[in-house]
Amino acid sequence: MNKRILTGDRPTGPLHLGHYVGSLQNRVKLQHEYDTYVLIADVQALTDNFEHPEKLGDNIFQVALDYLAVGLDPEKVKFVVQSMVPELTELTIYFMNLVTVATLERNPTVKEEIKQRNFVKGVPVGFWSYPISQAADITIFKADLVPVGEDQLPMIEQAREIVRRFNRLYAKVLVEPRAMLGAVARLPGTDGGAKMSKSLGNCIYLGDSSEQVRKRVMSMFTDPTRIHPTDPGHVEGNPVFTYHDVFNPDKAEVEALKERYRKGTVGDVEVKQKLFAALDSFLAPIRERRAEFAAQPKRVHEIIIEGTRKGRAVAQSTMNEVRTAMKITYKFE
Ligand code: TRP
Repeated sequence: MNKRILTGDRPTGPLHLGHYVGSLQNRVKLQHEYDTYVLIADVQALTDNFEHPEKLGDNIFQVALDYLAVGLDPEKVKFVVQSMVPELTELTIYFMNLVTVATLERNPTVKEEIKQRNFVKGVPVGFWSYPISQAADITIFKADLVPVGEDQLPMIEQAREIVRRFNRLYAKVLVEPRAMLGAVARLPGTDGGAKMSKSLGNCIYLGDSSEQVRKRVMSMFTDPTRIHPTDPGHVEGNPVFTYHDVFNPDKAEVEALKERYRKGTVGDVEVKQKLFAALDSFLAPIRERRAEFAAQPKRVHEIIIEGTRKGRAVAQSTMNEVRTAMKITYKFE
């Protein structure tokens, strides 16, 4: 039997280049080798969007379009909608007994997200404890491998701890997952910030039009110490060059630009124009496939329903083992 992959995304909107580099690229690469499930995590998206549940339906569709657009093959990969697998909720509740409050409070990603979100009425328990439900996501599928961006490493670590505790306490039912990082650990935002994030407005989306991409690239942050195009510039830590390294297949062009930039013989505009050209040819086929599927909503819905059906079957089978291990298979006959 093939080893399994489980990973997922919150459907809070369309996916961007950060998602691509962090995880989508690995999923596309490994989909033929691994039995792959991708979770459209609408329940997790609710943890910080519970005031706008009406957006979830369309966002789920948008995320599925992005999956298809980047080349996930629906004959191979199962797209699973989280809320349609109620077994996940059950496993989350059992896992809650295996995690301490102190451990949750130490999770660096959750801490950072809480800071960004500025919850006016205090941190909802649902948000604060989402690493537990994410551990259920991963383990109900008995995933061996979880392709994710760097920010998700604490979630995988939490899942591994829960698995060890569960298996020691009850029976060896669950699989300890491994994280797999993207080729680039973290893609900075177009503003040079640590990462692309919808709430920061520093993203390039996979479905963006040529014009939108051009505008974003031309307004990107570069080297803040450089005032004139004749000043020697910094390449390291300059997001425009980070993107060149990732998305421009013409390595000779990138090297030449870097050299001229360091010497102060090339302006930001030319560097950005070349980046736009590279990005646009990377995104063009993705954009095209996205539009093709967007024109066939019924087909996309079928793909989601079929993936979820298969995913749920796996979840149900794991839950039978979990309940047996926990001795909650009472038969009152
Ligand atoms: N937390 C992930 C994100 O914000 C989404 C996610 C939910 C996930 N469940 C998962 C990722 C399980 C990996 C495995 O992008």
